[in-house]
Amino acid sequence: MVLHLNGVPSRFVWVLALLDFCGSNGLFSFTEFVVGPRVGRGLPIKSSTLSIAQQLVNSNGYPFEKHQVTSEDGYILTLHRIPRSKHETSPFKTKRPVALFQHGLLASSDVFLFRGPNHDLPYLLADSGYDVWLSNMRGNMYSQKHQSLDAEKDPEYWKFSLHEVGYYDLPATIDYILNKTNEKSLYFLGHSVGSTAAFITGSLRPEYNSKIRLHLALAPLVYVLHEMSFPHKIFLGSSISLTQNIVARNILNVFPRRSYFSKFLGALCANGAPTQFLCLIFMYSLVGIDGQQFNSSYIPEFLSYFPAGSSVYLTSHAMQIYAEGDFRPLDYQNPFTNLQKYRQVAVPTYNISLISHPVSLHFGDGDTLVTEEDLAFTESKLPNAVGSYRVPFENFNHMDFMVGSDAKDLVYNELILLMNKHR
Ligand SMILES: *[C@@H]1O[C@H](CO)[C@@H](O)[C@H](O)[C@H]1NC(C)=O
Ligand SMILES: *[C@@H]1O[C@H](CO)[C@@H](O)[C@H](O)[C@H]1NC(C)=O
Ligand SMILES: *[C@@H]1O[C@H](CO)[C@@H](O)[C@H](O)[C@H]1NC(C)=O
Repeated sequence: MVLHLNGVPSRFVWVLALLDFCGSNGLFSFTEFVVGPRVGRGLPIKSSTLSIAQQLVNSNGYPFEKHQVTSEDGYILTLHRIPRSKHETSPFKTKRPVALFQHGLLASSDVFLFRGPNHDLPYLLADSGYDVWLSNMRGNMYSQKHQSLDAEKDPEYWKFSLHEVGYYDLPATIDYILNKTNEKSLYFLGHSVGSTAAFITGSLRPEYNSKIRLHLALAPLVYVLHEMSFPHKIFLGSSISLTQNIVARNILNVFPRRSYFSKFLGALCANGAPTQFLCLIFMYSLVGIDGQQFNSSYIPEFLSYFPAGSSVYLTSHAMQIYAEGDFRPLDYQNPFTNLQKYRQVAVPTYNISLISHPVSLHFGDGDTLVTEEDLAFTESKLPNAVGSYRVPFENFNHMDFMVGSDAKDLVYNELILLMNKHR
């Protein structure tokens, strides 16, 4: 089998080179087709015309609101809100505790909404009496506006990582929500790097400790101690060289939502497609093996709600944290940029022992990205951890926190219990 494939990779690369050569003449670039458009080529989706999250929420019968928040450095972020359950008869009655969601890498609030009230946590929380907000990271398709920069034309717009999301965006978002709801503090639910961002907020802005009643950290990427798997080593190695290549081509908005690309991947990966096993091998080698929690009939639908785009610097930051095992800001490998971003050339580390609000840590045994060992170390550094929780299912993986078939029974119900306990 392996012998039969000999020579294919080099031929494949040769074809890519040819396609990209044509691209450099303005015809077609395979890299752009896969990764995203160069700055200056336009955005695939105009954020102002979008209301996918709204359609999802309203089609499930729940009320929906859209809000916009401007961060201190001018980024205009879109928040989605489910203010109450559809079963609620008197909308103006009670004060509701606030739950704020932050999605993970390349995602948007859509990933928490598309499976509906029997599966998705935001609806379950609304039904349990919570006022639910979902934030969208700067640079995703909902949050691409800026007071003075143009995401379509200015490379400067894209120069941010998780650092800015934690330092500027979460604080602005939290203040906005607390002001709107007249609450003193909120529950924060972060998946993967969404949770990472709140660890950054907590380390850099201790004044926000009192505003987070409980941070529920679902497979958060913070410290990485576990031995990296072979596929992860290959993936990281190739991603690092690919990243240099795409930055050099001025492709800074990576994996934006593009319907033709979603359909293309959806066709390759759908049930019944002979190529589906390749998609599954690729996916499981990244997020962890799982035969049972991932329902492959969701693939085409999932691909219409994921990815939603991010900055290449933000994805690099996540890869840096994973590769180094250390929790620190993105090293731009350029003293001037580092100086401009962090007011020092050597990149400092985040000190999570300054996070005094309660944090609960959640992991799955099948997750190869964030493991029990990693979270045990993170927990040991947190002054106010309320515990590490194993999902009671063998092989529960990184993605299952978002789309696992039984995530409601395995995780979400317990999260709601934990939140109720911290009223
Ligand atoms: C809260 O919102 C009101 C009106 O929307 C605004 O005038 C006020 O400055 C805000 N307060 C804070 C602390 O942001
Ligand atoms: C997977 O999803 C499809 C479509 O929603 C459903 O019909 C099927 O029963 C699901 N399979 C499992 C194992 O949950
Ligand atoms: C981190 O913060 C803690 C608590 O304030 C402090 O004791 C410790 O020295 C700090 N560590 C570093 C490396 O700055």
